[in-house]
Amino acid sequence: MFTANVLALAYLAAATLFILGLKGLTHPASARRGNRYAMLGMAVAVLATLFNPAVKNYGFIIAGLIVGGIIGSVVAMRIKMTAMPQLVAALHSFVGLAAVLVAVGTYFMHPRADASLMTELFVGSFIGAVTFTGSLVAFGKLQALLPSKPLLFKGRHLLNAALALAMLGFGIDFVWHHHLVSLLASIVMAASLGVLLVLPIGGADMPVVVSMLNSYSGWAAAATGFTLGNQLLIITGALVGFSGAILSYIMSQAMNRSIISIVLGGFGGHEAGEETAVSTAAGKGIKSASVEDAVFIMSNASKVVIVPGYGMAVAQAQHALKELLETLHHKGIEVKFAIHPVAGRMPGHMNVLLAEADVPYDNVVEMDEINPEFSSTDVALVIGANDVTNPAAKSQKSSPIYGMPILEVNRAKQIFFVKRSMKPGYSGVENLLFSQDNCALIFGDAKTVCEQMATELKAAA
Ligand code: TAP
Repeated sequence: MFTANVLALAYLAAATLFILGLKGLTHPASARRGNRYAMLGMAVAVLATLFNPAVKNYGFIIAGLIVGGIIGSVVAMRIKMTAMPQLVAALHSFVGLAAVLVAVGTYFMHPRADASLMTELFVGSFIGAVTFTGSLVAFGKLQALLPSKPLLFKGRHLLNAALALAMLGFGIDFVWHHHLVSLLASIVMAASLGVLLVLPIGGADMPVVVSMLNSYSGWAAAATGFTLGNQLLIITGALVGFSGAILSYIMSQAMNRSIISIVLGGFGGHEAGEETAVSTAAGKGIKSASVEDAVFIMSNASKVVIVPGYGMAVAQAQHALKELLETLHHKGIEVKFAIHPVAGRMPGHMNVLLAEADVPYDNVVEMDEINPEFSSTDVALVIGANDVTNPAAKSQKSSPIYGMPILEVNRAKQIFFVKRSMKPGYSGVENLLFSQDNCALIFGDAKTVCEQMATELKAAA
């Protein structure tokens, strides 16, 4: 068994490793090292906790480690990278549920404790309950079990405010009178709030919500740390809470959304009935092109910008794109990759895949930097990037993606858009780009099309 001092030192070491881990994650080149630090930190944290003299019985812990470890390993090995956001959402819900269970369990152990512990139990349980149900709804939307379109109804803000007030009222009663029923009622109110705050959020805005729920799960863990008197849980929870909040802020800026509206739910949405059919025009006069057409135009271009999106990830086309990049370079054509902050299904999704294919970082350009360059681009080659290129975000006020900055491929001389069908992207909104004169669709799987392009380009050399 560890003494209190050894335990505190081990927790300090783990917290330092977590901070080094976060620092490593700030750049793709150091991300692997950052992950290793964080894993080592977690190993130190788990071992130190197991040797904590407060642990009296190992039976439940070992059973939990075996069952949880097996389930976690199988899920982690099987999960596709494109399904990562829903896995993350599901894991946040567990943190929220754990915070609620710890709060209720602690109440049963100390039903006559002072007001400060009761306040901790109330705060921990309500943040946990909002995180739990909010994350479940986010999981449902990301897994397509619930509609990704914003579910809006009139008076929802009023209902949310009433629920928040009632939750607070029950919380105060619990802190002063220690009534279990008040604690449970406040948990029910908070759980309903979690559902109502996430339901109105449309598909395209889900990345910000997932990152916000990440932050909430950190606060829930920190509150649990106070209840259990565990400093490491407080530090780790605060790290997750703050880094999630900062990421949410950065993402909301990138999506042109207000962070306050995210916290209050239903941002960027419009009341039901206000939504109009975004564009039936997209169904008319759409041009399609063959790989040969695209290769001919590209081989005569001086600048090509490739825009990868979720379709590249599904097709795993990154290696074929690297080959295409090399072939175009070989012909003296300037090539850049344009990255939208929410392209794909998780932050940095495109960067990770392109790095995996060894696409040099110098060729990868972020949205703000590349947008002014589209007007001087001969060919914009869009590979399964639908929502992030949709001009409806700029021109259709009634569109759920209105206000979201896009990659302005519409300003390129020629656009070739690779996708398999006429289906819309994640937000369910038709892409106005398709009806533009300078846009032609190449129907097919992204990997196959890119491989064919590289082969034909080489043959044309
Ligand atoms: P999307 O708008 O989802 O469009 C992807 C496109 O790829 C679809 O139009 C699809 O059309 C095509 N596609 C799928 N599989 C393909 C394949 N094998 N070959 C060729 N094309 C394929 O993707 P995006 O533009 O990257 O935008 C991302 C969206 O997801 C945004 O709305 C964003 O807000 C949301 N989101 C992002 C995140 C993060 S953090 N990045 C997390 C959750 C949600 P076909 O089916 O016709 O092929």
